[in-house]
Amino acid sequence: MVCLGNICRSPLAEGIMKDKLQKQGVPAFVDSAGLIDFHEGEQPDHRSIATARHHGIDITGQRARPFSVKDFGSFDYIFVMDSNNQRDVLAMANDSGDKLKVHMLLNYAGIGTNRSVPDPYYGDMSDFEKVFQLLDQACENITRHFLNSQAGIKISN
Ligand code: 4NP
Repeated sequence: MVCLGNICRSPLAEGIMKDKLQKQGVPAFVDSAGLIDFHEGEQPDHRSIATARHHGIDITGQRARPFSVKDFGSFDYIFVMDSNNQRDVLAMANDSGDKLKVHMLLNYAGIGTNRSVPDPYYGDMSDFEKVFQLLDQACENITRHFLNSQAGIKISN
């Protein structure tokens, strides 16, 4: 899960996705990162923490880190929150295989094509709740997709 600062949107997306996959018993590794390193090492924004907690999800253990070119090797799917993130991540891709891993997260929310998760950083709590609902819808559909197809998931024995 990738956004700009890795303190507002992608930590929520990471927390929601982990929660859903864990509840379904899907053994996938989920992480998040940002395109800037300005907040490296920080906890998620207190408004993201509060919004997640409101929905029963604890994201206080997360720490911001910058997206790395190595992430292309570590992950099967790279979900970006907006079109700027998409442009920046694609610019770091080594080859077409890397590029194929990059998806706009909201393309799975059932609300249209190439929509961006609005950046709530300069907004208020209602903006964070709107972001939560968008992320939740996308993560729900992705989880169902994984459960139906088992695509991209390595299950031992
Ligand atoms: P995020 O929000 O990309 O959802 O984590 C932002 C957080 C910090 C900044 C921008 C966006 N910033 O410019 O510091």
